[in-house]
Amino acid sequence: MLIHTSIVLAVFGAVGLCKVYEDVADLPRLHYDFVIIGGGTAGTVVANRLTENPDVSVLVLEAGVSNDGVLLSEVPFLLNSLLGASVYSWNYTTTPQSGLNGRSIAFPRAYMLGGCSAHNGMVYTRGAADDFDRYANLTGDDGWSWDGIFPYFLKHEGWTAPADNHDTLGEFNPAIHGTDGPISVSLNGFPWPVFEETVIQTTKELPDEFPFNLDMNSGQPLGVSWLQSSIGGGKRSTSVTGYLAPESIWRPNLHVLLHAQVSKLVNITHNRGKPSFGGVEFKFGSSLFVAHASKEIILSAGAIGTPHILLNSGIGAHNTLSALGIPKVVDLPSVGQNAHDHPFFALGWAVNSTQTLESITQNATRAAEGLAQWEASHTGPFVDSGIATHIAWLRLRSDSPAFEVHADPSPGPGAPHLEFLLIPGGGIAGGISTPGVGNFITIGISLSSPVSRGSITINSSDAFAPPLIDPGFLTSMFDLLALRDGVALAQRFVSAPVWDGYLGAMTPDLTGLNDAELLAHIRDNVGQSFHIVGTAAMSARGAPDGVVDPNLQVKGVAGLSVIDAAVVPIVPAAHTQAITYAFAERGADLVKRRWA
Ligand SMILES: Cc1cc2nc3c(=O)[nH]c(=O)nc-3n(C[C@H](O)[C@H](O)[C@H](O)COP(=O)(O)OP(=O)(O)OC[C@H]3O[C@@H](n4cnc5c(N)ncnc54)[C@H](O)[C@@H]3O)c2cc1C
Ligand SMILES: *[C@@H]1O[C@H](CO)[C@@H](O)[C@H](O)[C@H]1NC(C)=O
Ligand SMILES: *[C@@H]1O[C@H](CO)[C@@H](O)[C@H](O)[C@H]1NC(C)=O
Ligand SMILES: *[C@@H]1O[C@H](CO)[C@@H](O)[C@H](O)[C@H]1NC(C)=O
Ligand SMILES: *[C@@H]1O[C@H](CO)[C@@H](O)[C@H](O)[C@H]1NC(C)=O
Ligand SMILES: *[C@@H]1O[C@H](CO)[C@@H](O)[C@H](O)[C@H]1NC(C)=O
Ligand SMILES: *[C@@H]1O[C@H](CO)[C@@H](O)[C@H](O)[C@H]1NC(C)=O
Repeated sequence: MLIHTSIVLAVFGAVGLCKVYEDVADLPRLHYDFVIIGGGTAGTVVANRLTENPDVSVLVLEAGVSNDGVLLSEVPFLLNSLLGASVYSWNYTTTPQSGLNGRSIAFPRAYMLGGCSAHNGMVYTRGAADDFDRYANLTGDDGWSWDGIFPYFLKHEGWTAPADNHDTLGEFNPAIHGTDGPISVSLNGFPWPVFEETVIQTTKELPDEFPFNLDMNSGQPLGVSWLQSSIGGGKRSTSVTGYLAPESIWRPNLHVLLHAQVSKLVNITHNRGKPSFGGVEFKFGSSLFVAHASKEIILSAGAIGTPHILLNSGIGAHNTLSALGIPKVVDLPSVGQNAHDHPFFALGWAVNSTQTLESITQNATRAAEGLAQWEASHTGPFVDSGIATHIAWLRLRSDSPAFEVHADPSPGPGAPHLEFLLIPGGGIAGGISTPGVGNFITIGISLSSPVSRGSITINSSDAFAPPLIDPGFLTSMFDLLALRDGVALAQRFVSAPVWDGYLGAMTPDLTGLNDAELLAHIRDNVGQSFHIVGTAAMSARGAPDGVVDPNLQVKGVAGLSVIDAAVVPIVPAAHTQAITYAFAERGADLVKRRWA
């Protein structure tokens, strides 16, 4: 027994001590075939796939801390506790947002191994086939079409039974899910029967507007589907649990260094007329080091970090760089531009039922019991995020006033304009304030097809100064008007007869506001969906804009790729982890093919 225990300890100890290095002094060397910048959602996928070949050596440089044993990350229900300032966050804030009446908003991004997959809401949605077919059109590469990407959804996904093992017949379509991939995906594992039955009954009473859809992840998302999350066995599934699990982290050709913040790319040479970087400068403690890549440098620092490092390295708009005295390497004006996210707004109502999330969040005894049950058996209410029981994907009416200010920005008739998170509680995701003591439900309204665009820029030549983050929320009138339609649609949803006797007062009550007051209220309350993309967008070869070509190689530079959410040129009608995993899988294949 004693021997057995010490073997187990040795194995687990080695996972942290041997290949995930906490100290640069322990790193065996600084020369590798590939250096990956950022051990986040996408970076770990690429690291895993490249090191399947034992002859290829890879170093991952991650600025943040270890995610190992971080309970707040492991327990799905505790996700909100990771959204404030903490050692696990970059603690960013946006610039004042003109579309939000001048407000700056907190902008959480994970500062830990696994990146945002280790603190996100775990909602698992892929988007519409039309989204991907538009990417194929924009890049001229069918590999980014729905049919081209679909195998990469299956490849990363490991469909898993829910934590309560309930009968899932009629709650999803098994034919469109992967079963062998590293990222666990499951249906909720703790029921909220009154709310769930009310939602499902709504799809029967108002089937034209809110039809039931067996599975929103088929490429045809329109309608109301059961929530799917990146959770397995009641625990959060992250890019680390999935792609750096012990069998791959033990590969002697893969090294991961934590606490290593990359400043810029260095050691420029020329390769067939193009500049090429041989080194990556990073800070560990208070000292600077250079890691060398003989084949390629891969930027996976996310939609904020990736353009920040490109700009620090002299790749960006010539004017910005010269104003800061940063030597220009390549004039690529699109770096950091085209930043966008889904603006998020929410409506809440009191309900005549004690069966809501408040039965846990407003009862310390019940909350302690819930956590104890999770620790004992990974069952009970803490196995889910609490973000929703269902999601609805909806199109605006064709006579929406939003279309008078802008042509339809959606990629096709199979793609939604709006998303509803149907939440069996109040004040949950996205910074909605808690409505008070009582029992509530929420409809979170997210604009799936935003027109507004912002930017990630720098205003300092100090590579360690934070970038300026401007998601440009509601700078287009289309976005504001579409969200106003969302408010009306949400009220329509809860007008189905089944809500009689269950639904109480709207809180806060917006029903008395005139149109101008409602629009002002939306501007005063819109928050983010955490889905920022587009800041190192891919475009066709030879296109005047864009940062990477359809093979994800930075335009005008040799030996440098971007593989993360920054390359997504237009945000899909989806939460963005599934597309990040799928694009990272395909991105890794593209790199492997180049060096085969
Ligand atoms: C709070 C929150 C909730 C979300 N909820 C959901 C959800 O429910 N469902 C969903 O699908 N999506 C969700 N998302 C979005 C999704 O998680 C992201 O789109 C996706 O994880 C992005 O992956 P990435 O690899 O591009 O970036 P990241 O996962 O952020 O990885 C980037 C990594 O690079 C590191 N890094 C950055 N700069 C440097 C540097 N200079 N040097 C070294 N390392 C660096 C970072 O620390 C990080 O580990 C959420 C995101 C957030 C922030
Ligand atoms: C974020 O803030 C917390 C607490 O305020 C701090 O401990 C942490 O170091 C900060 N993160 C970064 C990356 O600076
Ligand atoms: C993209 O779609 C437009 C309009 O349908 C078409 O004219 C164009 O040729 C397409 N481009 C590519 C690269 O497929
Ligand atoms: C690489 O760049 C670093 C930082 O600029 C410099 O110190 C180092 O000498 C360079 N190494 C080579 C081999 O050029
Ligand atoms: C709080 O939870 C405990 C334990 O489940 C329960 O006994 C108690 O009735 C709850 N209190 C309220 C006010 O609902
Ligand atoms: C850059 O912007 C930040 C945030 O707006 C500000 O605090 C800082 O002073 C600016 N720095 C420079 C050099 O302009
Ligand atoms: C609340 O629900 C109960 C039982 O379902 C019902 O009798 C009562 O009328 C409802 N109250 C309101 C205000 O609708």
